[in-house]
Amino acid sequence: MIYFDNAATSFPKIQEAYKAAYSAMTEYGANPGRSGHSLSIRAARAVMSCREELAQHLKISEPMRIAFTYSATDALNTAIMGLLNRGERVIAGPYEHNAVMRPLKELEKEGQIELTVLKTTDSEEIRSAVKPNTTLGVFSHASNVTGEITDLMRVSRVLGEYGIPLLADCAQTAGVLDISPQATGAKLIAMPGHKGLQGLHGTGALYIAEGYELRPLRYGGTGSLSESMYQPTEMPDALESGTQNLVGLAALCEGVKFVGGHIDEIREYEGFLTDNLREMLAELSGIRVLRTGSSEYVGVTAFTIDGCTSGEAADFLSENGICVRGGLHCAPSIHSILGTLSTGAVRVSVGLFNTLDEIKALVSALQRLLKSLR
Ligand SMILES: Cc1ncc(COP(=O)(O)O)c(C=O)c1O
Repeated sequence: MIYFDNAATSFPKIQEAYKAAYSAMTEYGANPGRSGHSLSIRAARAVMSCREELAQHLKISEPMRIAFTYSATDALNTAIMGLLNRGERVIAGPYEHNAVMRPLKELEKEGQIELTVLKTTDSEEIRSAVKPNTTLGVFSHASNVTGEITDLMRVSRVLGEYGIPLLADCAQTAGVLDISPQATGAKLIAMPGHKGLQGLHGTGALYIAEGYELRPLRYGGTGSLSESMYQPTEMPDALESGTQNLVGLAALCEGVKFVGGHIDEIREYEGFLTDNLREMLAELSGIRVLRTGSSEYVGVTAFTIDGCTSGEAADFLSENGICVRGGLHCAPSIHSILGTLSTGAVRVSVGLFNTLDEIKALVSALQRLLKSLR
């Protein structure tokens, strides 16, 4: 089986992540931070190590400004629901995933907030969207459809002219690009643990700069201040009610460690595979690779095929042992811009363990498909 759906979740993960998960499950699978016994303390240490590792990766000095979440969606909801107040306005980038659009649209529908969705990421368009009540900008670092990268530092500088913080959706860039506050200018950074960072399903994180306090999405036990029936206000407990995903975070710790030490090689290797894929696709008549115009991309490529829907193509590839994703990828905004709302697109997303031979196998399967459509 050839797996090209790493934008949804990376697979396989590095061996160290599996080993750490197994060891957390079988050697010290207690509830982290809830009790004073040795296994609970060991579990809490594992969670703390992951937080410290991620802080180092994000080049921040304060690990406690990172809240663990269940996914990038959970991190984005935590930021959006926790930060915005009635009457405020948000500027959203043009290519946002439903993990951003749905919470924003829900708040807009309820009359809680006003929303401007941009058509491009041009600085002038951002400037002209700013209104006196704008309090947040939300932009993805790279599109999960075209893979195209947005220069978040430029975006955050433009927003910063008006004192507006940037919430960065780094779902497709965590583990591949520098997503640190220094590199993105973001005050809030949402990321999945289970994609480029090599952690397991059910992990994600939200970095929140000093000076930003969020209302929690969930209230409950944190293992701290148990005498109080009110939610602790200290980070990260304020945002981390409920039992932590010890197994997932133990794996994520190893993932972040690995990725941190190899980020340039990862970017280069995934770039090599993607450049090759795009060159080979350009040779196939009847295939159109989707782009909005940015010249830089991560390892995500989407295309349409004349004469067949993306679902039919994905099914054909699956029958031939190749896993890709058809449809709209939870991102109707960008498909609307690209004119592919009705057809969807085939998305190929590469990861650490893909090879050039697998790209060639994909391209030859596509050649067979094209031939069968003639
Ligand atoms: C750009 C983008 N944002 C958010 C998400 C949601 O991530 P998660 O699956 O961790 O909830 C995804 C998932 O593919 C994504 O690509």
